[in-house]
Amino acid sequence: MAVQVAGSINVDLIQSVKDLPRPGETVLSFRSARLPGGKGANQAVAAARMGATTRMIGAVGGDDGGRWMCGMLEEHGVDTQAIAALQDMATGLASIAVDCSGENQIIVNPGANEAVEPDQATQIGADARVLLAQLEIPADTVRAFFTAPDAQDRVRILNAAPALREAAHLFEHTDILIVNQHELAHYLGLSDAPQSAEDALIARQLIERDGQIVIVTLGALGAVAVWADRHFHAPALKVSPIDTIGAGDCFCGALAALIDSGESVEEALPLANAAAALCTQKQGAIPAMPSRSEAEAALTGGV
Ligand code: RIB
Repeated sequence: MAVQVAGSINVDLIQSVKDLPRPGETVLSFRSARLPGGKGANQAVAAARMGATTRMIGAVGGDDGGRWMCGMLEEHGVDTQAIAALQDMATGLASIAVDCSGENQIIVNPGANEAVEPDQATQIGADARVLLAQLEIPADTVRAFFTAPDAQDRVRILNAAPALREAAHLFEHTDILIVNQHELAHYLGLSDAPQSAEDALIARQLIERDGQIVIVTLGALGAVAVWADRHFHAPALKVSPIDTIGAGDCFCGALAALIDSGESVEEALPLANAAAALCTQKQGAIPAMPSRSEAEAALTGGV
């Protein structure tokens, strides 16, 4: 069993500020850091920390950032053999501002992530039970990943972030779709994001075929899994966030690892929530991913 992740790899430049800047405003940061990130890399590390054998498909530039990111992934137990190093491109770069409540703003320059080719994504390991992707690599590549002949009997999980309306054509090839409430509003064309687990049941409109599941993450309200005929809500652990960067990625990677180990969505959701809550307790994304034992301890004893 293994989790195979196709996704982005970024160097995150994080600026901690008292208040996030408004348009046209300059603010001073009180701390800055260069940390490993990218939704794909974050989710791969979260899955590996949760105990899954994890392989990553992606691309970095032929630069220091790319070598550093591959080293970081390997250090956290992720197999990097299917990551291309593209000599003429730069590694993806994210500029991130985080305020004192843990809220963030992110701007990503995709760099090599834009050059992850569909052919690269069809090399699916025989032991991969779960395929996990997001939308910081080309949608055509995600499509190739999910429609490859070898993908059909695997659990295909799409975290449809960042929200791209043209990516909705991927939903029919997805077994578990994960969105936050803002992404849900985007895909359904709603003017306001759902504010409760009950409101989030509108996610049922995204179900296209039997057996599909949509999971909506709701921050402090936890997560709700929606099937055609039922739903399951797992409340979040109560925490005071220090930094929410990568918390959604932590949830996705942890959930993928738990599904890979044979757990049902109902069994996996509380522990994935606990992992995401712990992720908000440290700075950055990859350095904040908890181990399975840390998440289990938080779930039983609180944070
Ligand atoms: O989801 C958080 C991630 O989004 C950051 O690590 C950043 O690299 C962007 O991809």
